Amino acid sequence: MTVIDFAKKKRDGIPISMVTSYDSWSARLIADSDVDCILVGDSVAMILHGHDTTLPINTAQMAGHVAAVRRGSPKSFIIGDLPFMSFRVGIRKSMENIAALMRAGANAVKLEGAAGNLDLIRHTVESGVPVMGHLGLTPQSVNRLGGYRVQGRGEEAAAQVLRDACFLQDAGCFALVLEAVPGDIARTISADLDIPVIGIGAGVDVDGQVLVLQDLLGLTADFKPKFVRNFIEGATLVKGALNDYHREVTARTFPGEKEWYE
Ligand code: KIV
Repeated sequence: MTVIDFAKKKRDGIPISMVTSYDSWSARLIADSDVDCILVGDSVAMILHGHDTTLPINTAQMAGHVAAVRRGSPKSFIIGDLPFMSFRVGIRKSMENIAALMRAGANAVKLEGAAGNLDLIRHTVESGVPVMGHLGLTPQSVNRLGGYRVQGRGEEAAAQVLRDACFLQDAGCFALVLEAVPGDIARTISADLDIPVIGIGAGVDVDGQVLVLQDLLGLTADFKPKFVRNFIEGATLVKGALNDYHREVTARTFPGEKEWYE
């Protein structure tokens, strides 16, 4: 997968599948699957680091996760998420942060929002770095949005998301993540744009889907947004395996005869 394939899939009407990964072992599993590309999302702050929001993660931590994913999946197309504020610190410092993710092994970066980001996006693309936009529910703005809530409801809000999507495309973004917007708005945006629109909680009439891996695997049992589907009941399976292990350890049936050295 390259940026050219993103454009080709949009032209040919072939949906793009994207999934998050933050570490080498899951990246290796994804590389062995049919999934098209990997997002090293700043959701890592919540999913792996246990924070309530994505705000606490910084560029150095994100670069570490990108590098781990690259080691697990040397050939995948990897998008590195620019963390909170890392791209709002002036062109020079923002470019250093972008370079840090690219040097760690990303093929592209993603950033949230349009207003105030367009010059940086143009400069980044002109510098040879593909940029993925992110509109709708932008988790780094959770405090301004007043919570994790659906965006683009109502005529003016919908028109604003569409305007922002066009601004991002014009600034040079090669693709756009659209999160938690009503399906009809997402359909219009996807139809109006030449670049692929990758939805999460944005319905089916877009150019691809992204899910957090742990949601997809059913490992985040305590919180399940409406748009998440658990493709396996991972938490139940893992708990079962852990309890089987504990039972066999306490019963001295693990290790078995063939599971130790003579
Ligand atoms: O950080 C992330 O995982 C994301 C996706 C949910 C799109 O931005």
